[in-house]
Amino acid sequence: MTGTKTADDEKHLLTGATGFLGSHIMAGLLSQGKGVVIAGRSSGGESLKERIGRLLTWFGIEHLEGLLEFYETDFLKRRLGLGEDEYETLCGRGLSIIHCASDTSFAEKNRARVMKSNVESLTEILNFAHKSRTRCFHFMSTAYAAGIDSIECPEALVNSAHFTNVYEESKAHAENIVYGRCREGEIPYTILRPSIVYGNSVTGRSLRFNALYYPIRSLQLIRDIYLDDIKNNYGRKSAECGIYMNEDGALHLPIRIFMPHDGTINLIPVDYFTETILSILEKPETETFYHITGNNPERMARLVSYTERFLNIHGIEVVIGTSSAEEMRNPPEELFDHFIKAFRPYISDKRVFMRENTDRATSGALPPDLSYEIFQRCMAFAVSADWGKRFNVLRP
Ligand SMILES: NC(=O)c1ccc[n+]([C@@H]2O[C@H](COP(=O)([O-])OP(=O)(O)OC[C@H]3O[C@@H](n4cnc5c(N)ncnc54)[C@H](OP(=O)(O)O)[C@@H]3O)[C@@H](O)[C@H]2O)c1
Repeated sequence: MTGTKTADDEKHLLTGATGFLGSHIMAGLLSQGKGVVIAGRSSGGESLKERIGRLLTWFGIEHLEGLLEFYETDFLKRRLGLGEDEYETLCGRGLSIIHCASDTSFAEKNRARVMKSNVESLTEILNFAHKSRTRCFHFMSTAYAAGIDSIECPEALVNSAHFTNVYEESKAHAENIVYGRCREGEIPYTILRPSIVYGNSVTGRSLRFNALYYPIRSLQLIRDIYLDDIKNNYGRKSAECGIYMNEDGALHLPIRIFMPHDGTINLIPVDYFTETILSILEKPETETFYHITGNNPERMARLVSYTERFLNIHGIEVVIGTSSAEEMRNPPEELFDHFIKAFRPYISDKRVFMRENTDRATSGALPPDLSYEIFQRCMAFAVSADWGKRFNVLRP
Protein backbone atom coordinates (compact mmCIF):
# COMPACT_ATOMS: atom_id res chain seq x y z
CA MET A 1 0.00 0.00 0.00
CA THR A 2 1.29 3.50 -0.77
CA GLY A 3 0.83 6.53 1.49
CA THR A 4 -2.27 8.68 1.38
CA LYS A 5 -2.51 12.36 0.69
CA THR A 6 -6.09 13.42 0.16
CA ALA A 7 -8.53 13.26 3.06
CA ASP A 8 -10.71 10.16 3.31
CA ASP A 9 -13.88 12.23 2.79
CA GLU A 10 -12.61 12.95 -0.75
CA LYS A 11 -11.70 9.33 -1.47
CA HIS A 12 -13.54 6.50 -3.13
CA LEU A 13 -13.03 2.79 -2.75
CA LEU A 14 -13.29 1.43 -6.30
CA THR A 15 -13.84 -2.15 -7.46
CA GLY A 16 -13.42 -3.22 -11.11
CA ALA A 17 -10.52 -0.79 -11.65
CA THR A 18 -8.72 -3.40 -13.78
CA GLY A 19 -11.61 -3.30 -16.28
CA PHE A 20 -12.64 -0.93 -19.07
CA LEU A 21 -15.03 1.40 -17.22
CA GLY A 22 -13.52 1.08 -13.75
CA SER A 23 -10.09 2.12 -15.06
CA HIS A 24 -11.63 5.20 -16.69
CA ILE A 25 -13.33 6.14 -13.41
CA MET A 26 -9.99 5.67 -11.62
CA ALA A 27 -8.18 7.86 -14.18
CA GLY A 28 -10.93 10.50 -13.98
CA LEU A 29 -10.77 10.69 -10.18
CA LEU A 30 -6.97 10.84 -10.21
CA SER A 31 -7.05 13.65 -12.77
CA GLN A 32 -9.17 15.60 -10.26
CA GLY A 33 -6.48 14.97 -7.64
CA LYS A 34 -8.75 12.61 -5.70
CA GLY A 35 -7.40 9.54 -3.97
CA VAL A 36 -8.63 6.09 -4.96
CA VAL A 37 -8.54 2.95 -2.84
CA ILE A 38 -8.44 0.06 -5.29
CA ALA A 39 -10.05 -3.21 -4.22
CA GLY A 40 -9.30 -5.91 -6.77
CA ARG A 41 -7.35 -9.02 -7.52
CA SER A 42 -4.05 -10.17 -8.94
CA SER A 43 -4.16 -12.11 -12.20
CA GLY A 44 -1.87 -14.01 -14.57
CA GLY A 45 1.06 -13.79 -12.15
CA GLU A 46 0.70 -10.02 -11.77
CA SER A 47 -0.18 -8.30 -8.51
CA LEU A 48 -3.08 -5.86 -8.40
CA LYS A 49 -0.59 -3.00 -8.12
CA GLU A 50 1.31 -4.18 -11.21
CA ARG A 51 -1.93 -4.47 -13.20
CA ILE A 52 -2.99 -0.97 -12.23
CA GLY A 53 0.53 0.27 -13.05
CA ARG A 54 0.11 -0.92 -16.65
CA LEU A 55 -3.20 0.89 -16.91
CA LEU A 56 -1.75 4.10 -15.49
CA THR A 57 0.93 3.98 -18.19
CA TRP A 58 -1.80 3.58 -20.83
CA PHE A 59 -3.59 6.64 -19.46
CA GLY A 60 -0.29 8.54 -19.27
CA ILE A 61 -0.79 9.15 -15.54
CA GLU A 62 2.28 9.72 -13.41
CA HIS A 63 3.34 11.70 -10.31
CA LEU A 64 0.57 10.24 -8.21
CA GLU A 65 2.08 11.32 -4.93
CA GLY A 66 0.36 8.63 -2.93
CA LEU A 67 -3.12 9.04 -4.37
CA LEU A 68 -3.56 5.29 -4.78
CA GLU A 69 -3.90 2.48 -2.27
CA PHE A 70 -4.27 -1.20 -3.10
CA TYR A 71 -6.19 -3.95 -1.35
CA GLU A 72 -6.14 -7.46 -2.80
CA THR A 73 -9.69 -8.64 -2.14
CA ASP A 74 -12.00 -11.55 -2.83
CA PHE A 75 -15.65 -10.48 -2.78
CA LEU A 76 -16.81 -14.03 -2.11
CA LYS A 77 -14.79 -14.37 1.08
CA ARG A 78 -15.69 -13.17 4.55
CA ARG A 79 -14.40 -9.64 5.24
CA LEU A 80 -13.62 -9.43 1.50
CA GLY A 81 -10.73 -11.82 2.14
CA LEU A 82 -8.89 -9.18 4.22
CA GLY A 83 -7.30 -9.78 7.61
CA GLU A 84 -9.39 -8.74 10.60
CA ASP A 85 -7.27 -5.70 11.53
CA GLU A 86 -6.96 -4.51 7.95
CA TYR A 87 -10.72 -4.86 7.45
CA GLU A 88 -11.56 -2.99 10.64
CA THR A 89 -9.19 -0.14 9.78
CA LEU A 90 -10.63 0.13 6.27
CA CYS A 91 -14.16 0.11 7.69
CA GLY A 92 -13.27 2.90 10.07
CA ARG A 93 -12.58 5.26 7.18
CA GLY A 94 -16.16 5.53 5.93
CA LEU A 95 -15.09 5.77 2.30
CA SER A 96 -17.55 6.23 -0.52
CA ILE A 97 -17.72 3.00 -2.56
CA ILE A 98 -18.01 2.57 -6.32
CA HIS A 99 -18.78 -1.07 -7.05
CA CYS A 100 -17.93 -1.49 -10.70
CA ALA A 101 -16.62 -5.09 -10.71
CA SER A 102 -18.81 -7.45 -12.66
CA ASP A 103 -18.67 -10.50 -14.86
CA THR A 104 -19.76 -9.16 -18.25
CA SER A 105 -20.20 -12.47 -20.07
CA PHE A 106 -23.53 -12.84 -21.93
CA ALA A 107 -23.09 -16.59 -22.40
CA GLU A 108 -25.67 -18.90 -20.86
CA LYS A 109 -22.95 -21.54 -20.38
CA ASN A 110 -21.33 -19.14 -17.88
CA ARG A 111 -24.56 -18.68 -15.86
CA ALA A 112 -23.20 -20.07 -12.57
CA ARG A 113 -20.05 -17.95 -12.75
CA VAL A 114 -21.94 -14.78 -13.74
CA MET A 115 -24.48 -15.18 -10.93
CA LYS A 116 -21.70 -15.83 -8.43
CA SER A 117 -19.70 -12.76 -9.48
CA ASN A 118 -22.62 -10.37 -9.92
CA VAL A 119 -25.14 -11.49 -7.31
CA GLU A 120 -23.63 -13.74 -4.62
CA SER A 121 -20.59 -11.49 -4.23
CA LEU A 122 -22.81 -8.57 -3.15
CA THR A 123 -23.26 -9.88 0.39
CA GLU A 124 -19.75 -9.08 1.57
CA ILE A 125 -19.36 -5.73 -0.19
CA LEU A 126 -22.74 -4.61 1.18
CA ASN A 127 -21.72 -5.84 4.67
CA PHE A 128 -18.64 -3.68 4.26
CA ALA A 129 -20.71 -0.69 3.11
CA HIS A 130 -22.97 -1.07 6.12
CA LYS A 131 -20.25 -1.59 8.69
CA SER A 132 -18.13 1.24 7.35
CA ARG A 133 -21.10 3.65 7.26
CA THR A 134 -20.09 4.55 3.74
CA ARG A 135 -20.90 8.06 2.49
CA CYS A 136 -22.53 6.38 -0.50
CA PHE A 137 -22.59 2.97 -2.19
CA HIS A 138 -22.58 3.54 -5.96
CA PHE A 139 -23.60 0.40 -7.81
CA MET A 140 -22.62 0.11 -11.48
CA SER A 141 -25.45 -1.61 -13.27
CA THR A 142 -26.60 -1.41 -16.88
CA ALA A 143 -29.50 0.32 -18.63
CA TYR A 144 -30.47 -3.17 -19.88
CA ALA A 145 -31.29 -4.34 -16.34
CA ALA A 146 -34.68 -2.91 -17.33
CA GLY A 147 -35.38 -6.17 -19.15
CA ILE A 148 -37.42 -6.52 -22.31
CA ASP A 149 -40.95 -6.23 -20.96
CA SER A 150 -41.46 -2.50 -21.47
CA ILE A 151 -40.43 0.08 -24.02
CA GLU A 152 -40.30 3.08 -21.71
CA CYS A 153 -37.68 2.56 -19.01
CA PRO A 154 -37.80 4.88 -15.99
CA GLU A 155 -34.85 5.74 -13.76
CA ALA A 156 -36.26 3.44 -11.10
CA LEU A 157 -36.27 -0.19 -10.06
CA VAL A 158 -37.95 -2.27 -12.75
CA ASN A 159 -39.24 -5.73 -12.06
CA SER A 160 -38.98 -7.33 -15.45
CA ALA A 161 -39.32 -11.06 -15.87
CA HIS A 162 -37.60 -11.30 -19.26
CA PHE A 163 -34.06 -10.54 -20.29
CA THR A 164 -31.90 -10.91 -23.34
CA ASN A 165 -29.20 -12.83 -21.53
CA VAL A 166 -27.88 -14.00 -18.16
CA TYR A 167 -25.78 -10.87 -17.74
CA GLU A 168 -28.84 -8.56 -17.85
CA GLU A 169 -30.72 -10.92 -15.57
CA SER A 170 -27.89 -10.94 -13.02
CA LYS A 171 -27.66 -7.13 -13.03
CA ALA A 172 -31.41 -6.78 -12.48
CA HIS A 173 -31.24 -9.26 -9.65
CA ALA A 174 -28.27 -7.38 -8.19
CA GLU A 175 -30.12 -4.05 -8.37
CA ASN A 176 -32.94 -5.54 -6.33
CA ILE A 177 -30.51 -6.79 -3.70
CA VAL A 178 -28.68 -3.43 -3.49
CA TYR A 179 -31.99 -1.56 -3.30
CA GLY A 180 -33.41 -3.81 -0.56
CA ARG A 181 -30.28 -4.06 1.54
CA CYS A 182 -29.48 -0.32 1.33
CA ARG A 183 -32.99 0.69 2.33
CA GLU A 184 -33.04 -1.82 5.16
CA GLY A 185 -29.58 -0.85 6.46
CA GLU A 186 -29.98 2.86 5.74
CA ILE A 187 -26.99 2.80 3.43
CA PRO A 188 -27.00 5.80 1.07
CA TYR A 189 -26.83 4.46 -2.50
CA THR A 190 -27.07 5.30 -6.18
CA ILE A 191 -27.59 2.95 -9.11
CA LEU A 192 -25.66 3.87 -12.25
CA ARG A 193 -26.96 2.50 -15.52
CA PRO A 194 -24.84 3.07 -18.64
CA SER A 195 -25.98 1.84 -22.05
CA ILE A 196 -23.29 0.50 -24.43
CA VAL A 197 -19.93 2.19 -24.04
CA TYR A 198 -17.41 2.53 -26.89
CA GLY A 199 -14.02 4.30 -27.12
CA ASN A 200 -13.04 7.90 -26.53
CA SER A 201 -14.84 10.19 -28.99
CA VAL A 202 -11.91 12.62 -29.10
CA THR A 203 -8.91 10.30 -29.27
CA GLY A 204 -10.56 7.10 -30.54
CA ARG A 205 -8.70 5.12 -27.85
CA SER A 206 -10.31 2.20 -26.06
CA LEU A 207 -9.34 -0.68 -23.83
CA ARG A 208 -12.15 -3.02 -24.90
CA PHE A 209 -13.31 -3.88 -28.38
CA ASN A 210 -16.60 -5.67 -27.82
CA ALA A 211 -20.21 -4.53 -28.39
CA LEU A 212 -20.15 -1.88 -31.17
CA TYR A 213 -16.81 -3.24 -32.38
CA TYR A 214 -18.01 -6.82 -33.00
CA PRO A 215 -20.00 -6.26 -36.21
CA ILE A 216 -17.31 -4.08 -37.77
CA ARG A 217 -14.55 -6.49 -36.82
CA SER A 218 -16.61 -9.37 -38.22
CA LEU A 219 -17.14 -7.58 -41.52
CA GLN A 220 -13.45 -6.76 -41.75
CA LEU A 221 -12.60 -10.42 -41.23
CA ILE A 222 -15.12 -11.57 -43.84
CA ARG A 223 -13.89 -8.90 -46.28
CA ASP A 224 -10.31 -10.11 -45.85
CA ILE A 225 -11.26 -13.76 -46.47
CA TYR A 226 -12.73 -12.81 -49.86
CA LEU A 227 -10.01 -10.31 -50.74
CA ASP A 228 -7.54 -13.13 -50.17
CA ASP A 229 -9.65 -15.46 -52.34
CA ILE A 230 -9.70 -12.89 -55.17
CA LYS A 231 -5.97 -12.31 -54.88
CA ASN A 232 -4.78 -15.88 -54.47
CA ASN A 233 -7.54 -18.16 -55.76
CA TYR A 234 -8.88 -16.36 -58.86
CA GLY A 235 -11.91 -15.32 -56.75
CA ARG A 236 -13.55 -18.75 -57.10
CA LYS A 237 -15.30 -18.76 -53.72
CA SER A 238 -16.17 -15.08 -54.10
CA ALA A 239 -17.87 -15.62 -57.45
CA GLU A 240 -20.12 -18.31 -55.96
CA CYS A 241 -21.44 -15.73 -53.47
CA GLY A 242 -21.70 -12.79 -55.90
CA ILE A 243 -18.64 -11.11 -54.40
CA TYR A 244 -16.37 -9.10 -56.72
CA MET A 245 -14.12 -6.07 -56.89
CA ASN A 246 -15.86 -2.92 -58.03
CA GLU A 247 -14.22 -0.62 -60.54
CA ASP A 248 -13.76 1.94 -57.74
CA GLY A 249 -11.55 -0.56 -55.89
CA ALA A 250 -14.19 -1.37 -53.24
CA LEU A 251 -15.25 -4.96 -52.57
CA HIS A 252 -18.88 -5.77 -53.39
CA LEU A 253 -19.87 -7.94 -50.42
CA PRO A 254 -23.60 -8.76 -50.47
CA ILE A 255 -24.58 -9.34 -46.84
CA ARG A 256 -28.13 -8.89 -45.61
CA ILE A 257 -28.47 -8.08 -41.93
CA PHE A 258 -31.91 -9.31 -40.89
CA MET A 259 -33.56 -7.47 -38.02
CA PRO A 260 -36.91 -8.63 -36.58
CA HIS A 261 -38.13 -5.01 -36.38
CA ASP A 262 -36.86 -1.50 -36.82
CA GLY A 263 -34.95 -0.15 -33.85
CA THR A 264 -31.80 1.52 -32.64
CA ILE A 265 -28.66 0.92 -30.65
CA ASN A 266 -27.91 3.09 -27.62
CA LEU A 267 -24.22 4.01 -27.57
CA ILE A 268 -22.15 6.41 -25.51
CA PRO A 269 -18.44 7.20 -25.75
CA VAL A 270 -16.26 6.46 -22.73
CA ASP A 271 -15.26 10.12 -22.28
CA TYR A 272 -18.93 11.06 -21.85
CA PHE A 273 -19.40 8.10 -19.50
CA THR A 274 -16.49 9.25 -17.31
CA GLU A 275 -17.55 12.90 -17.21
CA THR A 276 -21.08 11.90 -16.25
CA ILE A 277 -19.92 9.59 -13.47
CA LEU A 278 -17.63 12.30 -12.10
CA SER A 279 -20.53 14.79 -12.08
CA ILE A 280 -22.74 12.30 -10.23
CA LEU A 281 -19.97 11.52 -7.72
CA GLU A 282 -19.49 15.22 -7.10
CA LYS A 283 -23.02 15.65 -5.72
CA PRO A 284 -24.80 12.32 -5.61
CA GLU A 285 -28.51 12.37 -4.94
CA THR A 286 -28.87 9.25 -2.90
CA GLU A 287 -31.56 6.62 -3.55
CA THR A 288 -31.38 7.67 -7.17
CA PHE A 289 -31.06 5.72 -10.42
CA TYR A 290 -29.12 7.34 -13.25
CA HIS A 291 -29.44 6.38 -16.91
CA ILE A 292 -26.13 7.19 -18.57
CA THR A 293 -27.46 6.79 -22.06
CA GLY A 294 -27.73 8.54 -25.41
CA ASN A 295 -30.74 10.65 -26.32
CA ASN A 296 -30.38 10.00 -29.99
CA PRO A 297 -29.64 6.29 -30.41
CA GLU A 298 -28.08 5.10 -33.65
CA ARG A 299 -29.90 3.39 -36.49
CA MET A 300 -28.26 0.33 -37.93
CA ALA A 301 -28.50 1.75 -41.44
CA ARG A 302 -26.22 4.64 -40.48
CA LEU A 303 -23.70 2.32 -38.84
CA VAL A 304 -23.75 0.18 -41.97
CA SER A 305 -22.97 3.17 -44.18
CA TYR A 306 -20.11 4.18 -41.83
CA THR A 307 -18.79 0.62 -41.91
CA GLU A 308 -18.93 0.40 -45.70
CA ARG A 309 -16.98 3.64 -45.96
CA PHE A 310 -14.44 2.61 -43.33
CA LEU A 311 -13.82 -0.88 -44.77
CA ASN A 312 -14.16 0.15 -48.42
CA ILE A 313 -16.94 -2.31 -49.15
CA HIS A 314 -20.39 -2.14 -50.75
CA GLY A 315 -23.47 -4.35 -50.61
CA ILE A 316 -24.37 -4.51 -46.91
CA GLU A 317 -28.12 -4.26 -46.56
CA VAL A 318 -30.33 -3.96 -43.48
CA VAL A 319 -33.51 -6.02 -43.93
CA ILE A 320 -36.36 -5.40 -41.49
CA GLY A 321 -38.55 -8.39 -40.74
CA THR A 322 -37.95 -12.07 -41.22
CA SER A 323 -38.60 -13.65 -44.57
CA SER A 324 -38.09 -16.89 -46.38
CA ALA A 325 -34.89 -15.38 -47.77
CA GLU A 326 -33.54 -15.60 -44.24
CA GLU A 327 -33.33 -19.36 -44.58
CA MET A 328 -31.23 -19.05 -47.71
CA ARG A 329 -28.24 -17.25 -46.35
CA ASN A 330 -25.01 -17.17 -48.28
CA PRO A 331 -21.73 -18.22 -46.56
CA PRO A 332 -20.61 -14.67 -45.61
CA GLU A 333 -24.06 -13.99 -44.13
CA GLU A 334 -23.85 -17.18 -42.10
CA LEU A 335 -20.42 -16.18 -40.84
CA PHE A 336 -21.61 -12.70 -39.93
CA ASP A 337 -24.67 -14.03 -38.09
CA HIS A 338 -22.48 -16.40 -36.15
CA PHE A 339 -20.02 -13.68 -35.10
CA ILE A 340 -22.64 -11.20 -33.88
CA LYS A 341 -25.11 -13.63 -32.34
CA ALA A 342 -24.71 -12.40 -28.74
CA PHE A 343 -24.87 -8.75 -29.75
CA ARG A 344 -27.81 -9.02 -32.17
CA PRO A 345 -30.59 -8.09 -29.66
CA TYR A 346 -28.94 -4.72 -29.08
CA ILE A 347 -28.96 -3.56 -32.71
CA SER A 348 -32.73 -3.31 -33.09
CA ASP A 349 -33.71 -2.16 -29.65
CA LYS A 350 -36.92 -0.23 -29.06
CA ARG A 351 -36.35 0.73 -25.42
CA VAL A 352 -36.28 4.39 -24.47
CA PHE A 353 -34.31 5.29 -21.36
CA MET A 354 -35.64 8.22 -19.33
CA ARG A 355 -32.83 10.36 -18.00
CA GLU A 356 -34.17 13.22 -15.89
CA ASN A 357 -31.87 12.36 -12.95
CA THR A 358 -28.79 12.27 -15.14
CA ASP A 359 -29.80 15.52 -16.83
CA ARG A 360 -30.05 17.16 -13.42
CA ALA A 361 -26.60 15.87 -12.40
CA THR A 362 -24.92 16.96 -15.63
CA SER A 363 -26.88 20.15 -16.39
CA GLY A 364 -28.26 18.37 -19.41
CA ALA A 365 -24.90 17.49 -21.01
CA LEU A 366 -25.52 14.90 -23.73
CA PRO A 367 -23.14 12.51 -25.45
CA PRO A 368 -22.00 13.60 -28.91
CA ASP A 369 -23.82 12.00 -31.84
CA LEU A 370 -21.72 9.27 -33.39
CA SER A 371 -20.44 11.11 -36.47
CA TYR A 372 -18.37 9.36 -39.15
CA GLU A 373 -15.28 11.18 -37.83
CA ILE A 374 -15.75 9.73 -34.34
CA PHE A 375 -16.54 6.29 -35.78
CA GLN A 376 -13.47 6.41 -38.01
CA ARG A 377 -11.17 7.45 -35.12
CA CYS A 378 -12.46 4.66 -32.88
CA MET A 379 -12.28 1.96 -35.54
CA ALA A 380 -8.84 3.08 -36.76
CA PHE A 381 -7.60 2.76 -33.18
CA ALA A 382 -9.24 -0.67 -32.87
CA VAL A 383 -7.53 -1.84 -36.08
CA SER A 384 -4.18 -0.49 -34.87
CA ALA A 385 -4.67 -2.44 -31.61
CA ASP A 386 -5.72 -5.50 -33.66
CA TRP A 387 -9.08 -5.37 -31.84
CA GLY A 388 -7.38 -5.80 -28.47
CA LYS A 389 -5.01 -8.61 -29.47
CA ARG A 390 -2.09 -6.20 -29.67
CA PHE A 391 -1.34 -3.98 -26.61
CA ASN A 392 -4.02 -5.65 -24.51
CA VAL A 393 -3.56 -3.53 -21.42
CA LEU A 394 -6.36 -5.25 -19.51
CA ARG A 395 -4.69 -8.67 -19.67
CA PRO A 396 -1.06 -9.55 -18.82
N1 LIG B 1 -18.72 -1.75 -21.00
C1 LIG B 1 -19.98 -1.41 -21.19
O1 LIG B 1 -20.40 -1.05 -22.31
C2 LIG B 1 -20.95 -1.42 -20.03
C3 LIG B 1 -22.24 -0.99 -20.26
C4 LIG B 1 -23.17 -0.97 -19.21
C5 LIG B 1 -22.76 -1.36 -17.95
N2 LIG B 1 -21.50 -1.81 -17.74
C6 LIG B 1 -21.14 -2.19 -16.36
O2 LIG B 1 -19.95 -1.51 -16.02
C7 LIG B 1 -19.14 -2.32 -15.17
C8 LIG B 1 -17.76 -2.48 -15.76
O3 LIG B 1 -17.86 -3.07 -17.06
P1 LIG B 1 -16.58 -3.18 -17.98
O4 LIG B 1 -17.01 -3.09 -19.37
O5 LIG B 1 -15.52 -2.27 -17.47
O6 LIG B 1 -16.16 -4.68 -17.69
P2 LIG B 1 -14.73 -5.37 -17.78
O7 LIG B 1 -13.80 -4.60 -18.63
O8 LIG B 1 -15.01 -6.79 -18.14
O9 LIG B 1 -14.18 -5.30 -16.28
C9 LIG B 1 -14.77 -6.06 -15.28
C10 LIG B 1 -14.10 -5.76 -13.96
O10 LIG B 1 -14.74 -6.53 -12.96
C11 LIG B 1 -13.79 -7.37 -12.30
N3 LIG B 1 -14.40 -8.66 -11.97
C12 LIG B 1 -15.09 -9.49 -12.79
N4 LIG B 1 -15.46 -10.59 -12.12
C13 LIG B 1 -14.97 -10.45 -10.87
C14 LIG B 1 -15.00 -11.26 -9.71
N5 LIG B 1 -15.62 -12.45 -9.69
N6 LIG B 1 -14.36 -10.82 -8.59
C15 LIG B 1 -13.71 -9.63 -8.60
N7 LIG B 1 -13.65 -8.82 -9.66
C16 LIG B 1 -14.28 -9.23 -10.78
C17 LIG B 1 -12.67 -7.55 -13.31
O11 LIG B 1 -11.52 -7.89 -12.57
P3 LIG B 1 -10.35 -8.76 -13.27
O12 LIG B 1 -9.66 -7.80 -14.21
O13 LIG B 1 -9.52 -9.17 -12.13
O14 LIG B 1 -11.01 -9.89 -13.99
C18 LIG B 1 -12.61 -6.15 -13.92
O15 LIG B 1 -11.93 -5.26 -13.08
C19 LIG B 1 -19.90 -3.61 -14.98
O16 LIG B 1 -20.63 -3.53 -13.78
C20 LIG B 1 -20.84 -3.66 -16.18
O17 LIG B 1 -21.98 -4.38 -15.86
C21 LIG B 1 -20.58 -1.86 -18.75
